[in-house]
Amino acid sequence: ARSHPFHGAHQQGVTTPAPDALVLASLDMVEGATVDDLRELLADWTYAASRLSQGLEVAEDGAAGTSPEAPPPDSGEALGLDAAGLTITIGVGPSLFDDRFGLEDRRPTALVDLPLFAGDLLEAARCGGDLCIQACAADSQVALHAVRNLMRIAFGRAQVRWLQTGFTHAEGSAERAMTPRNLLGFKDGSANLRVDDPEHLAEHVWVGDDDQAWLAGGTYLVARRIRMTVESWDRTRLREQERVIGRTKLEGAPLTGGAERDDVDLDATDDTGQPAMDANAHVRLAHPSVTGTRILRRPFNYVDGVTSVGQLDAGLVFLSFQRDPEQFVTIQRSMRTDLLNEYIRHVGSAVFAILPGIAEGESLGDRLLA
Ligand code: HEM
Repeated sequence: ARSHPFHGAHQQGVTTPAPDALVLASLDMVEGATVDDLRELLADWTYAASRLSQGLEVAEDGAAGTSPEAPPPDSGEALGLDAAGLTITIGVGPSLFDDRFGLEDRRPTALVDLPLFAGDLLEAARCGGDLCIQACAADSQVALHAVRNLMRIAFGRAQVRWLQTGFTHAEGSAERAMTPRNLLGFKDGSANLRVDDPEHLAEHVWVGDDDQAWLAGGTYLVARRIRMTVESWDRTRLREQERVIGRTKLEGAPLTGGAERDDVDLDATDDTGQPAMDANAHVRLAHPSVTGTRILRRPFNYVDGVTSVGQLDAGLVFLSFQRDPEQFVTIQRSMRTDLLNEYIRHVGSAVFAILPGIAEGESLGDRLLA
């Protein structure tokens, strides 16, 4: 679909199939901002996002403005473009619940910074934030236009802390629906939660009303910027690449046999009686039968130029949605001995409570700030 409904029980951009382009921005409220600034900001964002996601300009007097003497409300680069399947998803980070806005007793128990994991090489400038905006679209220009104009609206109230773009293959470049590939060249998303199964989503993704009632129908987003040392990966033999992942490269089939979409049989053995999959293969350590938990992954690839030593600064914008960040923590801890760790580094990290969906006339901040 080229446009997704903005209103509903849940925000868009969680179970919506991931399109080609991601822009993820993390913002901090400026010093001295009040809870009323926060309330007005969320109301202004709600109005703007409801328009943008339908392919409209950010405000009625959009790119044309009302006077040549004033800057137009809409920056204009999406003029003539349709909604391109744009979804805008707004969340709040743990730091919003410190003592600045009187929201201390509204903090969901699970909304705390992620623990430090073995091997983490986090850069403070790529971590955390009071608020997040996730924009996804089939057109990078549309996604960026959305975030840029929401940033403009925030001016004087919140400012960007970090911004990460990401991409997957464009729908038009594959003949039929195909599992996207990450920059290791492997299919990513073969085994994932099914977004068309409401029971699955209720169990693993949507927050209930058992903790903070305002978050019922929301979810938690974990965002990790994971750098890949693609140069050393590209010098690794195919057989070794497949051993690391636990799947074949071309088809994405489990090394334990079967086709891409078949479940992984972790106990399978090869003709010599040896386990068909390495004990520390990525998909084994991440498998629900090992971790006891599941998450909805929605990753994008990124490339941000080259590093100071001439390596590609490329990797995965790992995004997962879950009803409790602890699900991610459990899986990430299980992967402590993952063979893949030799080729990746987590350099950015954030967790946000994604606000529940709203009905027409409501603002995204209403329940949080009621
Ligand atoms: C599966 C790659 C990071 C959790 C996979 C697969 C690949 C892959 C190729 C197999 C295809 C599939 O089932 O989708 C990567 C790469 C990563 C990365 C390149 C980092 C750059 C992570 C992280 C987590 C994670 C940080 C969570 C903490 C999973 C899970 C599965 C999976 C749960 C499915 C396992 C199953 O049910 O069979 N990953 N992954 N991955 N990955 Fe990752």
